[in-house]
Amino acid sequence: MRITMIGTGYVGLVSGVCFSDFGHDVTCVDLSEEKVARLNAGEVPIYEPGLDSLMARNVAAGRLSFTTDLAAAVDGAEAVFIAVGTPSRRGDGHADLSYVMAAAEQVGRALTGYAVVVTKSTVPVGTNRAVAEAVRRAAPEAEFDVASNPEFLREGAAIDDFMKPDRVIVGVESERAAQVMAAVYRPLYLREFPVVTTDLESAELIKYAANAFLATKITFINEIAHLCERVGADVKEVARGIGLDGRIGNKFLHAGPGYGGSCFPKDTRALARIGQEAAVPQTITEAVIRANEATKARMVDKLRDLVGGRFNGKTVAVLGATFKPGTDDMRDSPSLTVVPALVGGGATVRVVDPQGRREGEDLLPGVTWHDDPYEAAAGADLVAILTAWNEFRALDLPRMAEAMATPRMADLRNVYAPDMLRDAGFEAVFVGRAPVERAADG
Ligand code: UDX
Repeated sequence: MRITMIGTGYVGLVSGVCFSDFGHDVTCVDLSEEKVARLNAGEVPIYEPGLDSLMARNVAAGRLSFTTDLAAAVDGAEAVFIAVGTPSRRGDGHADLSYVMAAAEQVGRALTGYAVVVTKSTVPVGTNRAVAEAVRRAAPEAEFDVASNPEFLREGAAIDDFMKPDRVIVGVESERAAQVMAAVYRPLYLREFPVVTTDLESAELIKYAANAFLATKITFINEIAHLCERVGADVKEVARGIGLDGRIGNKFLHAGPGYGGSCFPKDTRALARIGQEAAVPQTITEAVIRANEATKARMVDKLRDLVGGRFNGKTVAVLGATFKPGTDDMRDSPSLTVVPALVGGGATVRVVDPQGRREGEDLLPGVTWHDDPYEAAAGADLVAILTAWNEFRALDLPRMAEAMATPRMADLRNVYAPDMLRDAGFEAVFVGRAPVERAADG
């Protein structure tokens, strides 16, 4: 079947490439001439493991192409996906729908036969109806339906998430649209991944509820971690102990420096806003947003305490700038809170990140970038692990400690066992576990 994907950002590009790998004939559309030229030259503008080879394979097979010509791409397509950005609007936290609405209108003008206009972007409840109205206004005679098909991709695991989803959510209003969406996802039906077909509003809300729930779970364990530090418990033990209860589950219970990324911060803010507008405040989600900010700020205090109360004059090696491993994405990363506090406090900051440098150079002024964690740690007063990249999970700790001015480690992802750090000569702090005190001199 013929599919059009509007928007070649993260979700659009991954979805377009994966649909073409299902065997569909996919045209991806983007406004940016430069981006389309790069894609046509085989360049993948984002870092996502496996995406480049999958893209090359499907382009070579003639199933995947890129264009700026929206009208030509929509002509004859059975499903037109809108996967443009919905950034948080400045000031009020609401999702900015101007790109979605502009795309809907252009699609309306370009429709030549029946098509399903599918919104993949994460949009507030009611947006699909607004999309339908925008298409209708642009093309009063057109035959079309709308569908809501939110995406649950995790950066760094996006291809696997797309090909082997826990579930696919499809919100529709007509049987005809349901059939087109069934055809889009037929390769998954064959492998028996559940496809939940529901109404438009439920589909829209499922996405926000899922992300807010996951953000809540992380924030819950982060608060418990803080309590663990006060009462002498170990959050890893607590997480394991509660996670074995099948009703709770062990995933997303890793305490850390706070959640970041392109989804959780934006979607929790948007859900809070949707709740306020509906006069049903989402008090839990609102508390999660505040608690996550507090968690990030608490990391700064932790680092400051570890270096004796002042950053001034200290050299700090920060390992990890991206919001999680396997991505080059810096959006709402805890590093954006921690690093400016270090720099502002007068520290000399060296940052190591396997993928974050390109984006991070603008976002983190006043630091130097290094490729090698040992080089960054040499002569430093503190090493802070902010992102659990594999590159930082098996460090030669004695070698690192030896090279530092004072061997101190803030392991904000609880990568290392306290004993390992103690044996290597580190003074160390974690999230939700007892610190490793400084070894007595002599
Ligand atoms: C998330 C959702 O998982 C995905 O379904 C949705 O479509 C988009 O948002 P993503 O932002 O790529 O995906 O990353 P994810 O792996 O979920 O991690 C989000 C943040 O939570 C990261 O900052 C991560 O470090 C943090 N996290 C996650 C924790 O601190 N602890 C955990 O146990 C899990």
